[in-house]
Amino acid sequence: MPNSSDYPVIRPRRLRRTAALRRLVAETRVHPSDLVLPVFVKEGLTEPVEIATMPGVHQHSVDSVRKLAVEAARAGLGGLMPFAVPAVRDAIGSAATDPDGILNVTTRAIKEEIGDDLVVIPDLCLDEFTDHGHCGVLRPDGSVDNDATLDRYAEMGLALADAGADLLGASGMMDGQIGFVRAALDAAGKTDTGLLAYAAKYASAFYGPFRDAVESQLQGDRRTYQQDTANAAEALLEIDLDIEQGADIVMVKPALPYLDIVKAAAERSPVPVAAYHISGEYAQIVAAAERGWIDRDAAFLEALTSIKRAGAGIIATYAAMEAAALLR
Ligand code: PBG
Repeated sequence: MPNSSDYPVIRPRRLRRTAALRRLVAETRVHPSDLVLPVFVKEGLTEPVEIATMPGVHQHSVDSVRKLAVEAARAGLGGLMPFAVPAVRDAIGSAATDPDGILNVTTRAIKEEIGDDLVVIPDLCLDEFTDHGHCGVLRPDGSVDNDATLDRYAEMGLALADAGADLLGASGMMDGQIGFVRAALDAAGKTDTGLLAYAAKYASAFYGPFRDAVESQLQGDRRTYQQDTANAAEALLEIDLDIEQGADIVMVKPALPYLDIVKAAAERSPVPVAAYHISGEYAQIVAAAERGWIDRDAAFLEALTSIKRAGAGIIATYAAMEAAALLR
C-alpha cells in the first residue's frame, strides 16, 4: 500500500468544503430572469381552479392571470407563456384567430397589466382550439394537413401580434411554420414580433398533465408531427431549419429526458436556446415530494440547474415562481 505522502494527492474536495467555497466556484447559476412561467387561462372562469394533475398550478380567469402577471414581474421572472382553454372548439380552431378569442384577450390583458416588464409568449398552435385536439387542421382522411395548417398559423400569429405578443411560441411542429409565419408577420409590418420556435419537440409521454390542463380533446397521438424519442440527428435538422427560417430563439422540449439535445442545440445555435421543463416533469417532482419521497425545493433547483448547465439560457417551468423565491 502506498502511503499518502508518497505522491501528491489532487484534492478537488478542497473547493467543496464550505457553502461559500461551493458558491464561489459554481459554474452555473439559475437566475429568476432565466425563467418563463407557462399560464393557463380558461374562458368563462371567474375563480382560479387548481389542475388535479399539477398541484399548485391553476386554470386562471382573465382577472386572476392579470394578478399573476404582476406577481411574476415583481418576482423578476423572464416571461410568461399563456395557453388558453376556449369555451367552444371546432375543426379549424376558429377561436384562435378571433381577436376576441380567449388567448388573444388574455395576451392583451397581460400586456395591459405589465407592459414590457415581462416577455409575453402566447402559444401559437391550434390544439387548444380544435375539437379533434390536433395541432393543425385535418384532411378528410383524418391526417394533419401541414400546408393548410400554415395558413391558420399565419392568421393566428397576426392576431396574437395585434394583441401585443412579444414572441410567438410556435409549438405545432409543422414543416415550414417558422418561415411561413415570419413572412406573414413581416408582410403585415409586424417586424418586431419575434418567434420562439419549439424547434425540437418530441412526442412525449410527459405531456399528460398539460393535456388535462387544457382539457385536450386529442384521440390518438401526435407522432406524425412531433419527433421520435429515438432520434437526435433529426432534432439538429429541425433546429437548423428553424434558425434558417428566422427563429429568434430555439427551444427543446421536454427538457430533462433530452439534455443531450439541449447541449447539441447550444453548441450549434447562433440564437438563444430555451428548454421546456414540461408538465410531466413538474408533476413527477410534486407527486414524489407529496409522498415525502424527495425534497421538492432541492429537486426543482437541481432540475433547473441541470437544464441550464446543459446549455439552455431560458427555461420554461411551472415552478418559476417558487424557484424564483428559492433563488432570492
Ligand atoms: C401544444 C403544446 C403541448 C405542450 C405545450 N404546447 C402539448 C402537446 O404537444 O400535446 C405541453 C407542455 C407541457 O406538457 O407542459 N400546443
